[in-house]
Amino acid sequence: MFKGLRNKWKVNAIQLTLILLTFAIGGSLTGYAGRKLMNIFGIEQKWIWIIVYLLVIVILWPIAVLIVSILTGQFPFFLQYIRKIGRRMRLIRSTEPEVDSRESIVNSDKKLTSESWDSGPTTNDYRLTTNIAIFASGAGSNAQKIIEYFRNSNKIKVALIACNNPVAGVLAIAARENIPVLIIEKERLFRGDGYVEELKEKKIDFIVLAGFLWKLPSRLIKAYPGRIINIHPALLPNYGGKGMYGNNVHHAVLAAGEKESGITIHYVDEYYDSGDIIFQAKCVVLPADTAETLAQRIHALEHEHYPRVIGEVVTKLKSVDSFIG
Ligand code: GRF
Repeated sequence: MFKGLRNKWKVNAIQLTLILLTFAIGGSLTGYAGRKLMNIFGIEQKWIWIIVYLLVIVILWPIAVLIVSILTGQFPFFLQYIRKIGRRMRLIRSTEPEVDSRESIVNSDKKLTSESWDSGPTTNDYRLTTNIAIFASGAGSNAQKIIEYFRNSNKIKVALIACNNPVAGVLAIAARENIPVLIIEKERLFRGDGYVEELKEKKIDFIVLAGFLWKLPSRLIKAYPGRIINIHPALLPNYGGKGMYGNNVHHAVLAAGEKESGITIHYVDEYYDSGDIIFQAKCVVLPADTAETLAQRIHALEHEHYPRVIGEVVTKLKSVDSFIG
């Protein structure tokens, strides 16, 4: 019974019963307390009475339901539910990422919520396919692997290649793969609209940085809370930060005499290489290594893991999104 609701809310039969019970008790309490309050106000005129009563109910209902949900053990569900209604009524700002107790993704501490997914660029436009934009400035070997990995997926689609370098190798890949390109201009990225509107229009849900050398402006990061990830060719927090890209990273690793290096996939924030770490993988650094040989080993690791981790992060976001549909 109520299978549709159970699927929609991703709850079992017992939880659904408790949720409906909470609704019923919360509703009754609201009606009772509302009428008591109205007696205290002592309003005579009928139409004013009705308006005030409705206002009282609207305010009391969420409070009553939340209190009852503590007793029925359904507080997390109702908190999300009420926030969602608040956002739909535009009473709650939807661009701030919020925090919940959801399991972290891979080995990340980053907390993502259905709110943050919901508040993203495709709100009110629920689609089964998640559109990814790859931001890349270089050769694009990672972009190529990501495209191949999701080529036959009906859930994730590489819908755009964004690039700030008009002669980058990744543009040839985009042309060959028939993927639309967006050339990113510095002025517009940093002092203009940050391309937010254009990415929204193109229905981009998730951004993957794969060798994109510019820091993203906060405007763009805020528009995609928890939905921008990057790959770095070293084990962060070491060998990251401004100027640490390409062979600079590998030279630094070799100069420090490290015995191992690796890759870090992390969320993107407003600083270089500082967002929460999602995944890391290690490889050896051999005594005879040059920056080039180390780069090859690192690239192989990137190609092996990045597409899969992207899939896991996106899938996790989607499953949270469908918690309250
Ligand atoms: C990769 O090594 C990645 O770690 C870094 O930029 C490089 C991009 O390489 N962020 P490619 O263009 O994908 O070959």
